[in-house]
Formats: sequence, structure tokens, C-alpha cells
Amino acid sequence: MGKVFVFDHPLIQHKLTYIRDKKTGTKEFRELVDEVGSLMAFEITRDLPLEEVEIDTPVQRATSKVLAGKKLGLVPILRAGIGMVDGMLKLIPAAKVGHIGLYRDPKTLQPVEYYVKLPSDIEERDFIVVDPMLATGGSAVAAIHSLKTRGATSIRFMCLIAAPEGVEALKEAHPDVDIYIAALDEKLNEKGYIVPGLGDAGDRLFGTM
Ligand code: PRP
Ligand code: URA
Repeated sequence: MGKVFVFDHPLIQHKLTYIRDKKTGTKEFRELVDEVGSLMAFEITRDLPLEEVEIDTPVQRATSKVLAGKKLGLVPILRAGIGMVDGMLKLIPAAKVGHIGLYRDPKTLQPVEYYVKLPSDIEERDFIVVDPMLATGGSAVAAIHSLKTRGATSIRFMCLIAAPEGVEALKEAHPDVDIYIAALDEKLNEKGYIVPGLGDAGDRLFGTM
């Protein structure tokens, strides 16, 4: 079964408070999501494999470490996932970025796929699917399914806020996928919004309220 990791770093938790606050305007919201994207990228890459290389420092020959293993691929779920990508790329600039476009039908809450563009060397990459919100889990489940049907074999999911319902749905549908979150909230409301959550992530990022 997929494991759930909560990034409880004080900087992440502090910034998340201002992201949640409804008084935070679009500009600041976008900047904070970008910053938390970087901080979460730092945490999620802790276990990347390293290999030793020989180098010459100005003083003497030395053995030092560089990243090894598969290359990374980031896949934001459009639209709101885009808000976290630049922050992540600041730390892992060599990652390639695919996009999966999904929106939740407001009546059925079912995800509708409208766009997919992924790196060509899918089998050779470890993917991190990114979206600020894991609510019913429908969008994450569909995006990961879409990625798997195109050949991805190593996938992790990262979000800011998750509802217990979404975590369970994702674990059930994709038991091989570990989930990385900044906060696990209480529940979903009758409209499928996370409580207390932060409202509509896409609308707050792009100012389309
Ligand atoms: C939001 C959010 C997730 C999805 C989560 O996107 O960014 O993708 O809802 O909900 P779920 O877990 O119930 O599927 P939305 O559909 O509002 O589209 P947007 O990013 O274009 O605003
Ligand atoms: N999507 C959002 O943007 N916010 C929620 O609370 C749930 C789904």
C-alpha cells in the first residue's frame, strides 16, 4: 500500500497558514505556493540515490557525490498544479515537465481529461505528479492512470492539502504510489471542497474567482 508522508517542516507549515488565509491576495498566494513548491521539492528529493565521482578541488584530488539513478519528471495537473512547478524546478532544474489537463465536473465531481503532453522517455524517468489539492482523489487517480497507460512505472504524488477521502481513494486505486502532503485536513464538504482547506486553488492562483 502507498505510504503517506506529511512534510511538517516549520517553514512549510508557516507559509501554508498564509496560503489558507482568505485575506491573502492572488500575488502573494502565487508567491507562497511557489515557495512551498521549492520547500516540498527539497523534502521529496531526500532519498534520491547518489554515486561517488572523482574530482580535483583546488587543494587535492577528492571523492565526492553526485545524483545517480533515473531522471526526474514533474507532471502538474492543470491548472492549479502549474503553481508549484517553478518552485520545484528551482531545486531540480534538469527535470522534464509533462502536463495533464483535468477539470472536475462541478456537478458529478468526476475528472474530465482535456490535455496530455509528456516527455518522450517516459520509462526512463521517476515521476512526481503535482497538484495543490487532493479532494475526492478523482483528478489524481485519473492523472496517474493516464501516466501509467503511457508507460510510466515510477510515480509519486505531491500536494499541499489532502482530504482523508482523497488519500484513501488514491491508495486504493494506485497502491504503488507514495503520497507527500503538507497537511491532512478534516473532511470534504457537500460541494467536494476540502475543509478547512484553502478554497479553489486554481481560482486563487490565477485570480479567476
Ligand atoms: C482542483 C484541484 C485538483 C482537483 C482536486 O482542480 O487543483 O486538480 O480540483 O479535486 P479532486 O481530488 O476531487 O479531483 P479543478 O478541477 O478545480 O481545476 P483547475 O485546476 O483547472 O481549477
Ligand atoms: N479543488 C480545490 O481547488 N479546492 C478544494 O477544496 C477541492 C478541490
